[in-house]
Amino acid sequence: MTVELMESKIVYFTKPGSDNTDEVLHIARQRANELGVGTILVASTTGSTAVKAVELLSGIKVIAVSHAAGFKVPGVLEFTEENRKIVDSNGGVVLTTTHAFAGVSRAMRKKFNTYAIGDIIASTLRIFGPGMKVACEITLMAADGGLVRTDEDVIAIAGSGGGADTAIVLVPVNSQDFFDLKVKEILCKPHFQYLLTSPPQSYPTKSLISWGPLIPPLLEKEKEEIY
Ligand SMILES: Cc1cc2nc3c(=O)[nH]c(=O)nc-3n(C[C@H](O)[C@H](O)[C@H](O)COP(=O)(O)O)c2cc1C
Repeated sequence: MTVELMESKIVYFTKPGSDNTDEVLHIARQRANELGVGTILVASTTGSTAVKAVELLSGIKVIAVSHAAGFKVPGVLEFTEENRKIVDSNGGVVLTTTHAFAGVSRAMRKKFNTYAIGDIIASTLRIFGPGMKVACEITLMAADGGLVRTDEDVIAIAGSGGGADTAIVLVPVNSQDFFDLKVKEILCKPHFQYLLTSPPQSYPTKSLISWGPLIPPLLEKEKEEIY
């Protein structure tokens, strides 16, 4: 029996973070063209990644999904007015709404110091890196906002705290159908090589512990304090 298969490339960045943003956008544009994907979602807190996206992805519909207003500071929206104007004038759309995995789960964490289902889903997806969690989350948010169809592929782009380092191809679903979400392709993501503090050329065969802290203090701090 012949097995039908397809192959495609995954790019792994040796370090997470915003330095990878331009490359992520190039990778996404190329794959969108190959697959005929017409919509790209991008997580953007301040609008800086959204601005890069509308400039580099001309001809493709760009939907920038921001933090909810009040996410960091009550009443404050971090997406700047200046960046919103640039996105608008380049034909992009900015969506600001409740975070699909945070929302009332975050209220539970803040008020009662306990974790609810949204936190558990988010933490599970983060085993692929923060960008995977965010890419899935903004796709639900865009579907709930009525900005994407739930029967067509999109590409979702996100990062680790800022910028972009992850891109996936997926079919959106509404948040109430979360468990039907299908991640079809991983186009790029950070490699976890960055967690290793001393120089193994390849993955360890014994214990990681002797190489020091697995998570650099800054990343751990960011994870706890920001998200
Ligand atoms: C709704 C939403 C949720 C996010 N959640 C996380 C997260 O859990 N962990 C993380 O490292 N970054 C998170 N981010 C950050 C994004 O992945 C991305 O790096 C950032 O929004 C880019 O912002 P910039 O345009 O200011 O560069 C989130 C962003 C948004 C919009």
